[in-house]
Amino acid sequence: MNLYPAIEDHLEEIMEIDKEAFPTPWSRKLWIREISRTHRAYHVAIENKKVIGFGGGLLAGDDFHITTIAVRASNLSKGVATRIMIKLLEEAVKLGATNLTLEVRAGNHPAQALYRRFGMAPVGIRPSYYQPDNEDALIMWANDIHEQPYLELLDSIKQGQKAKEVLSS
Ligand SMILES: CC(C)(COP(=O)(O)OP(=O)(O)OC[C@H]1O[C@@H](n2cnc3c(N)ncnc32)[C@H](O)[C@@H]1OP(=O)(O)O)[C@@H](O)C(=O)NCCC(=O)NCCS
Repeated sequence: MNLYPAIEDHLEEIMEIDKEAFPTPWSRKLWIREISRTHRAYHVAIENKKVIGFGGGLLAGDDFHITTIAVRASNLSKGVATRIMIKLLEEAVKLGATNLTLEVRAGNHPAQALYRRFGMAPVGIRPSYYQPDNEDALIMWANDIHEQPYLELLDSIKQGQKAKEVLSS
């Protein structure tokens, strides 16, 4: 698996995964806008020439806001999202971000487990944030992602991921 910046050629497959993963997938117009604007980082994970996951976000002030991340159902629990998160964190720091934030459905425990491994903690709730089902959003944050302690956490996640990949290959 390799990671690449998302480009228009990837959009058909990205949108296929988006539709599979979320009840309100993004329109092509929104995808094009997001991947072409500055202060963004959107990446795809590719295996055997196939897009198997994507993720990205935007810089708002000092904060990198992850706007989306999803993995093909057939490729779950193989570390794809972990690899995408590592890439997004590296890109966020390059863009000058000092904090990481996102919203996640209150009932989305697999995603929350992923974010907790990346040092993100819940800081609040946006009630009925997700439509049409009115599910609450949990707001999660990690601070000082450009500082040594966080970079060490990121490095330990990377080493752990490499070890898992060796064991499962
Ligand atoms: C949330 C989501 C992106 C996670 O993707 P994923 O690729 O399955 O995540 P990972 O494989 O990196 O991590 C999941 C688990 O697999 C484990 N794992 C990682 N690499 C592994 C490997 N090589 N072999 C076995 N297990 C591995 C991880 O340790 C993790 O375990 P944990 O849940 O006990 O912590 C995915 O479930 C998804 O697309 N959901 C739908 C969309 C969504 O909800 N997105 C989030 C919106 S906020």
